[in-house]
Amino acid sequence: MIEFTDVVKIYDNGTKALRGINLKIEDGEFVFIRGASGAGKSTLVKLLMHEEVPTNGDVNINGFSVAKMRHKDVPYLRRTMGVVFQDFRLIPQMTVYDNVAFAMRVIGAKHQEIRRRVPYILSLVGLAKKAHNLPEELSGGEQQRASLARALVNAPAFLIADEPTGNIDPDMSVEIMELFDEINRQGTTIIMVTHDATLVERYSYHRVITIEAGEIVEDLPGSSV
Ligand SMILES: Nc1ncnc2c1ncn2[C@@H]1O[C@H](COP(=O)(O)OP(=O)(O)O)[C@@H](O)[C@H]1O
Ligand SMILES: [Mg+2]
Repeated sequence: MIEFTDVVKIYDNGTKALRGINLKIEDGEFVFIRGASGAGKSTLVKLLMHEEVPTNGDVNINGFSVAKMRHKDVPYLRRTMGVVFQDFRLIPQMTVYDNVAFAMRVIGAKHQEIRRRVPYILSLVGLAKKAHNLPEELSGGEQQRASLARALVNAPAFLIADEPTGNIDPDMSVEIMELFDEINRQGTTIIMVTHDATLVERYSYHRVITIEAGEIVEDLPGSSV
């Protein structure tokens, strides 16, 4: 479970990005976080990743308190989550296979396990045929699927996506969304940040949280079970 309690984030320059966020996300949920540019969406994501710490309040992530956490424990927190960004963040010199395998190597996975798991995950996202291509040889949608494969390869409890469809065309966006849906059906909690109103509308059977100027102004429960 993820719980934000009275979370305030004020950046060093005085910008008040979050003004008292209270939010509970249960295991297995699919949640959209929508809001205009500058609303505080990415700040929320950075707090979940412990890239930033709250100025006040706390975020509890499956028992980890972000406010009280020691630096040496941050890697353990990060292992519980997969993160996907708008700009993919693939390593350009590495093939698709190696980008995904790398995420397993850094946590010390065994060679044999990597050889078994990476092809499975690549076929799950429909990239088996592109395993030995470099990121630059892929379309935007394919690059995002590669970055999704990397985020999923260590079987995270939840997946955070910050504007994952921001750099890909609408057809590809739907494809990515279908993948997210499928991953959610298999039990992974998904938090998807977006300002794409059309996409949210189309998938509004999921919970939709709207933030405006650092505050939650709407929380629609959705109808999915
Ligand atoms: N590192 C930072 N330092 C100062 N201000 C920041 C920083 N990051 C974001 N902000 C500001 O905080 C507010 C929220 O930003 P952000 O969370 O990135 O919003 P969103 O992702 O919804 O566009 C904006 O006013 C932005 O300019
Ligand atoms: Mg953002």
